[in-house]
Amino acid sequence: MDPKKEEVRREHIRLHMEGTLTARDKVGVQDFVLLDAHTSESAFVDNLRKRFNENLIYTYIGTLLVSVNPYQELGIYTVSQMELYQGVSFFELPPHVYAIADNAYRMMCSELNNHFILISGESGAGKTEASKKILQYFAVTCPMTESLQIARDRLLLSNPVLEAFGNAKTLRNDNSSRFGKYMDIQFDFQGIPVGGHIISYLIEKSRVVYQNQGERNFHIFYQLLAGGEADRLAHLGLERDPRLYKYLSQGHRAKESSLNDKNDWKTVSNAFSVIDFTKADLENLFGIIASVLHLGNICFEEDPQGCATVPDTHEIKWIAKLLGVCPSVLLDALTHRKIEAKTEEVICPLTPGHSVYARDAMAKAVYGRTFTWLVNKINSSLVNKDVTKKTVIGLLDIYGFEVFDKNGFEQFCINYCNEKLQQLLIERTLKAEQAEYEMEGIEWEPIQYFNNKIICDLVEERHKGIISILDEECLRPGPATDLSFLEKLEETVGEHAHFQTRKLAGPKGRKRIGWMEFQLLHYAGEVTYCTKGFLEKNNDLLYRHLKEVLCRSSNRILRECFLVAELENRRRPPTVGTQFKDSLGSLLEMLICKEPSYIRCIKPNDTKEPSKFDDFLIRHQIKYLGLMEHLRVRRAGFAYRRRYEHFLQRYKSLCPDTWPHWHGPPGEGVERLIKYIGYRPEEYKLGKTKIFIRFPRTLFATEDAFEFSKHQLVARIQATYKGRLGRREYVKKRQVTTKLEAHWRGVLARREVQRRRWAVQVIRRFIKGFIHRHRPLCPDNEEFIVFVRKNYILNLRNHVPKNVLDKSWLRPPGILEHASDLLRKMCLRNLVRKYCRGVTDERRAMMQQKVVTSEIFRGKKEGYADSLRQPFATSRIDEGDIHPKVLQLIGSEKVEYGVPVIKYDRKGFKARQRQLILTRKAAYVVEMAKIKQKIEYSALKGVSTSSLSDGILVIHVSPEDIKQKGDAVLQCEHPFEAVTKLVMLVKKENMVNVVQGSLQFYISPGKEGTIVFHTGLEEHIYKDKNGQLTVVSVRRKS
Ligand SMILES: Nc1ncnc2c1ncn2[C@@H]1O[C@H](COP(=O)(O)OP(=O)(O)OP(=O)(O)O)[C@@H](O)[C@H]1O
Ligand SMILES: [Mg+2]
Repeated sequence: MDPKKEEVRREHIRLHMEGTLTARDKVGVQDFVLLDAHTSESAFVDNLRKRFNENLIYTYIGTLLVSVNPYQELGIYTVSQMELYQGVSFFELPPHVYAIADNAYRMMCSELNNHFILISGESGAGKTEASKKILQYFAVTCPMTESLQIARDRLLLSNPVLEAFGNAKTLRNDNSSRFGKYMDIQFDFQGIPVGGHIISYLIEKSRVVYQNQGERNFHIFYQLLAGGEADRLAHLGLERDPRLYKYLSQGHRAKESSLNDKNDWKTVSNAFSVIDFTKADLENLFGIIASVLHLGNICFEEDPQGCATVPDTHEIKWIAKLLGVCPSVLLDALTHRKIEAKTEEVICPLTPGHSVYARDAMAKAVYGRTFTWLVNKINSSLVNKDVTKKTVIGLLDIYGFEVFDKNGFEQFCINYCNEKLQQLLIERTLKAEQAEYEMEGIEWEPIQYFNNKIICDLVEERHKGIISILDEECLRPGPATDLSFLEKLEETVGEHAHFQTRKLAGPKGRKRIGWMEFQLLHYAGEVTYCTKGFLEKNNDLLYRHLKEVLCRSSNRILRECFLVAELENRRRPPTVGTQFKDSLGSLLEMLICKEPSYIRCIKPNDTKEPSKFDDFLIRHQIKYLGLMEHLRVRRAGFAYRRRYEHFLQRYKSLCPDTWPHWHGPPGEGVERLIKYIGYRPEEYKLGKTKIFIRFPRTLFATEDAFEFSKHQLVARIQATYKGRLGRREYVKKRQVTTKLEAHWRGVLARREVQRRRWAVQVIRRFIKGFIHRHRPLCPDNEEFIVFVRKNYILNLRNHVPKNVLDKSWLRPPGILEHASDLLRKMCLRNLVRKYCRGVTDERRAMMQQKVVTSEIFRGKKEGYADSLRQPFATSRIDEGDIHPKVLQLIGSEKVEYGVPVIKYDRKGFKARQRQLILTRKAAYVVEMAKIKQKIEYSALKGVSTSSLSDGILVIHVSPEDIKQKGDAVLQCEHPFEAVTKLVMLVKKENMVNVVQGSLQFYISPGKEGTIVFHTGLEEHIYKDKNGQLTVVSVRRKS
């Protein structure tokens, strides 16, 4: 990567990390881990108060959430808040229950493991509210398909039903859960909630028959009476006023203004319809609820024998009707007891006191088991039949440590449960952590923590534990009482460091511990329990007689709850204590294989008031919730650890060396990665297989950076993918192009083959034609001949002669000779015609003159051929050169031709310069202004020239003409021209005589001269010794 770009990216990651780190809540610290005085309880409470006063009810201790009940609506559970927390890294936003839920959900989705969220705290601290918020969060934020909406609705609506049957108003909480609840929410691989499963623990059955002052029975009784339709109530034999029922009016709180039973009834009825309850189910269920109310109103009186009787059987009848049992059998069962003595059964009457006990036991058993049936029924509607693997998030809403003034069997169970859960926490977070550090070879300062296994053992150890001793006392024949149980305890576990009684404590413990009490030193603090009622509650006996009645009930729910098999089983059913211990054991087994998250709920005051922060109460809860201990551990250890592979897998994109693949050992990869993103040495430690990060902020900074880099990765992946697609497209196109090209080349090649084949045929035909070219026209040579003709003609086109003088002609092939001749002639004729058309009058005249010259001299006189090339002039003397006098003498005659000549005297042959001027009538020999001789044409007898190349011409005159002086002997440079002009003017062509050798000329009457002609090396004219004129000329071509 470009180093500059890389630097910018690093800078951006760094800024991003720092940016989120500085945006922290200013009011208190949102994580107790960041407290300076982390060991001070006051600092802890101060921080909690500061935040509470600002309505900030949530604070972290690492990943544990501390929640303070605000007792008011804070507007922090809106859908937009849910969206805000969705998918955001844990420490990025202020602490919230949604952050815990989202963190567990996201971890579950990404690591495909199971989780649980343990919510604990005092009654009224907000556990149930928190679990509902979590459920709502999942319902709103998880992905959803239409078909799975029903599963989500059932999960949500199971709550109001369970609350109606399992919650009640207490002094501490108007909606106090009187059972422990563990709920599994099952998610499919897409993270959609698809089903669930609920387990209930230790429903407080005693509430059915007795409530403390100011408290109520379970909500459902009041809701049915307040909201139930009139005919339903009539059918159940109930009146609307709850005060009419003993079981509802002992706490004197039958009418509770803070609760709206009527409205709640509607919600519950609506929920029933969604979670698959049939009409018959509801009829049976409310039959049982009504029969419990009727049971409470049965009064027993004592007959004279001291046995119990029922004076008014009105209620008995209603119960018998509603439960489908025989009224007399029921009455019998309530007032008598079957005792099995060896082989026979003895029926003995009960005292009114015992009958009340039997009645209440029946009411508790019926209600308790119906509640269990209800949970099972809800579970069957929540079950997801799809067998694909699911991941779960479990919500455990369970009572926290309860420390009252008087603590009974229930508190003992509850606090035992908390010990167990604390043990889980210890095992999961402390012990496991320490062991892990050791295993990883990480330096660890050991933290002193209290391992509460010793207390758990005190309670649950077989044969030696408190529960075992209690069971033993319950089963022991003979008179076992709560006191004997206490004595047995002192005997067995009296030595235990966490056990104390008044007797064992000696004088010191007298003030604190009563005679019937024992004290346990729980991990969170001391709790004193009163043994009164321990045996009875642990036994939870229902007389066999009554059980039989219930087994035979025609009410289907009861029949499912009270199985006949139970009657036949001679073994005593497990005691409540053992049952609870076992169910707790299986709960812990279930939890131990899941990833934990913790929510600790704190109640700010006892009066349910908003904005009231009771320091004393809160300190007490901080102590019993073990928060200081937890904080101490968190501060000492590392907040986060992950296996190198996982850490690298998640964050490898933050460093170019590890992205996209790191091929070396994962540990080295992580080291390179954290160096690159700038971890400081105190922030982390590297173990053998894991990285340990001390501060959560380091982790979430890394997470932030990862979030940021994801976008870049997505863009890169997208680009690569688009590139792939593009390339695929390109390769496809290239293949197509290659195919097209191949086809096209094929076409071209085939065309070429055809062309060549055609060419071969043409050439073959041509050769054949050539071979047979001399034969007459036949198919074999026809084409060739046509070609030759055409070719010749086409060729000829470019070689036709350009003018008449051009004698060239393209040689024709043999077969075209005749045609060529014809063409040549045609062409010549055409050229001649063209030439003739182009000849001017002047030229024509000259040509005619040349024709005349030709007729006269051609082949007769030397130099003729040369003369042909020289055009004739109109005249060789300008009119201006002729003396005006001469012109005057000539008179009206027009000078047709004039030429300078040398005239030789006829006698002495003296040469003189003269002009020969020709008119239409006569020829004049002129010397300057004088006409020396006029020869009229009528007197002209002829003209003679030699056959040689000299320029001598002799104009012969008639000797009879006296006007004439004799023949004129002239030498002219243009003899052909001059003679021709003269002849044409005279119009006598045959008057020219071309002589050879010599000629005679007339000098004067009777006297003739001779001119001899011959050739020599140079021209010369002279009078020879004979008095003849000798003319020597150079031989020339004629
Ligand atoms: N987050 C909250 N915001 C507003 N009010 C709350 C919140 N949590 C709890 N409350 C109030 O406190 C009351 C008691 O809460 P809740 O029923 O959850 O307590 P609990 O811990 O389940 O108690 P118990 O152990 O008795 O069941 C609620 O009815 C509600 O009025
Ligand atoms: Mg609750």
